[in-house]
Amino acid sequence: MTQAPEISTARLRTMRSRLLAWYLEHRRDLPWRRSRDPFAIWISESMLQQTRVETVIPYYERFLERFPDVETLADSDIEEVYGLWAGLGYYSRARNLHAAAKMVVEQYGGRLPDQVEDLRRLKGVGRYTAGALASIAFDREEPLVDGNVIRVLTRWLGWRSDVSQKKVVDALWEIAGRLVLGPQPGDLNQALMELGATVCTPRSPRCSECPIGRSCQGRKEGDVESIPRKPRKQRVRAVRGVAAWIERKGRVLMVRREEGGLLGGMWELPGGTIEE
Ligand code: ADE
Repeated sequence: MTQAPEISTARLRTMRSRLLAWYLEHRRDLPWRRSRDPFAIWISESMLQQTRVETVIPYYERFLERFPDVETLADSDIEEVYGLWAGLGYYSRARNLHAAAKMVVEQYGGRLPDQVEDLRRLKGVGRYTAGALASIAFDREEPLVDGNVIRVLTRWLGWRSDVSQKKVVDALWEIAGRLVLGPQPGDLNQALMELGATVCTPRSPRCSECPIGRSCQGRKEGDVESIPRKPRKQRVRAVRGVAAWIERKGRVLMVRREEGGLLGGMWELPGGTIEE
């Protein structure tokens, strides 16, 4: 079944109010949730893509201490931004943040735009981040879909289509877009992600603690863990490489990787991969 299941507005409304009530009581006390500053929320959402909450917290705090606002970030040297990002991975995020901060200063007078369409023009701001910023920082009724949201919604619907298909994810965006309509859109979006992170986990979900467990189709069918359905993982490709340690007068030769690719812009020892 690729077709999205039909969901009545009444059912979505009930789900919405249960999620919000649960979130207000159970949400984790995270540093970015104490802030209403769009810049701080932007930094947190950028770091939280691909990285776990516990890992992000100290990076988030150090980053904001050094770059408390968009002007300071825009004026900074990219090397310093990389330095504060070191260890978080996916360094293109740091490069994009720096470039986008300059765009915000130059095009928007240092204030982040509050509309999804404008946010998406910023470097590195995709559909997810734009939805997160519009809803969490600006109270707009905009949806977001990430891995946690995909899991919560497909399980709740008992929807077993392959979630690597674009049309399936598009249908989930559409459902999330209906669900978010109403008061507290930022809390609603965070409730979905929080539920996925703490209750509706990939393995051993805690269904008895779930605020929407009674109406969850996957749970009814008794095999929640088998949803969402994913295609088999691609085999990991092994690459062999060589690197040279070239030292002169106590200094070591390093080269910079090309922008854009894997670990783009980072420094490494000179070398390369060994071809067949
Ligand atoms: N993952 C990414 N952003 C999040 C947020 N604001 N709350 C919970 N989980 C998240």
